[in-house]
Amino acid sequence: MPRILLSLVLSVLLAAPLAAQEAPGTAAPDRTATGGAQTLEDILARQRGETVDDSFRSGATGDPDSAASMASQLGTLGGSSDSEVWRALRYGLADVTVSAGGDPARVLMQDRGMWWLEFRQGPLITYGGWLLLGTLGLLALFYLIRGRIRIDGEKTGRTVTRFKAVERFAHWLMAGSFVVLAITGLIVLMGRMFIIPAFGHEAFSTMAIGSKWIHNNISWAFMLGLVMVFFLWVLHNIPNRTDLKWLAVGGGIFSKGVHPPAKKFNAGQKLIFWAVILLGASISASGLSLLFPYELPMFAKTFVVLNDTGLPQALGLGTLPEQLAPHEEMQFAQLWHAIVSFLLIAIILAHIYIGSVGMEGAFDAMGSGEVEEQWAREHHGLWLDEIEQEEGKNAAAPAAKANPAE
Ligand code: HEM
Repeated sequence: MPRILLSLVLSVLLAAPLAAQEAPGTAAPDRTATGGAQTLEDILARQRGETVDDSFRSGATGDPDSAASMASQLGTLGGSSDSEVWRALRYGLADVTVSAGGDPARVLMQDRGMWWLEFRQGPLITYGGWLLLGTLGLLALFYLIRGRIRIDGEKTGRTVTRFKAVERFAHWLMAGSFVVLAITGLIVLMGRMFIIPAFGHEAFSTMAIGSKWIHNNISWAFMLGLVMVFFLWVLHNIPNRTDLKWLAVGGGIFSKGVHPPAKKFNAGQKLIFWAVILLGASISASGLSLLFPYELPMFAKTFVVLNDTGLPQALGLGTLPEQLAPHEEMQFAQLWHAIVSFLLIAIILAHIYIGSVGMEGAFDAMGSGEVEEQWAREHHGLWLDEIEQEEGKNAAAPAAKANPAE
């Protein structure tokens, strides 16, 4: 289900250019003057970005059945002229036989790769870049207006264990690898635009090769951390009614002295958790597809499922392509991988802010694992109550212990 939802978003984002290419034009123009070949009007319309029905070209790939005999004029062409053969190659209709390389090697010319290239160099980098800069700007603004969220009450000098070593290990495995993946991924995606002008081709070449190697290999650490985090924290992240109360007051983040009750994780953290799990899983799936080229095609299959739901048609996207060339599968995987990564990086920037400079006492939870008792009371009051009750029942060591540092 998550995969379907995520794929739907992708379809909305990515199917438009495909639909634009495939939708037939309105009225067939008169091409008698060119003997059926494309006209100046066709070329101008394409340059204006209009949809041109080029079935008159894609269908003109010769007819082997009515080929002239070998002895006749042009007989060696086998029913297709050179331009018809090239057209067939361009539209993916040629019957190509290769001795190595499998299906991908049979695609000699990939016409639809151009929209992928243009989308990747254009909107993807532009909007993705602005999303990250915008997020950083908003966080800076929030810091200027709200300042650091302080512990309002009197500190007790006692601490409570918030995360065990295994939880902190899983978090930092995932977090550390994610930060490295984000930086190296951005270098690979945007380096041509920003690093080459600043440092030149030589420097970028080294950086790009290194980034790719690191990116490919660190990905396993992220996936392992993601799985660990999921199993360690999923039970604490099931939504409940307390979350509504927390959300109703914006978690008290925007006003001093407001502390809605929360268990181990508040509603904001649950949103972060599920974003990390769902988007992280989707990034991992598309990443694996990129890591093992042509081995894990998943978009054509997903489009079949989506078309069956009738949703793309209802959204005016028409029927999504259910047959994709191997390269198109890779192109969809690349775009999806990057789009979802941009989203998750933006979310994680906000998370890093609140887990470090944004909130007094928060970092300790993932640093030493011990948090100030008053911090726990203000931000996770119900969780602290649970721990104290548990400790009271066991009558063992007290829930809060004296902080040796105080
Ligand atoms: C690199 C800087 C990071 C810092 C300083 C940081 C800090 C923290 C802290 C202090 C907590 C515990 C909050 C609490 O006690 O309630 C936490 C939790 C968490 N972190 Fe991070 N983190 C970082 C990066 C990341 C990254 C990159 C990811 C995921 C890709 C991530 C995912 C999570 C999740 C899912 C939780 C539990 C839910 C939540 O508290 O929001 N963290 N982090």
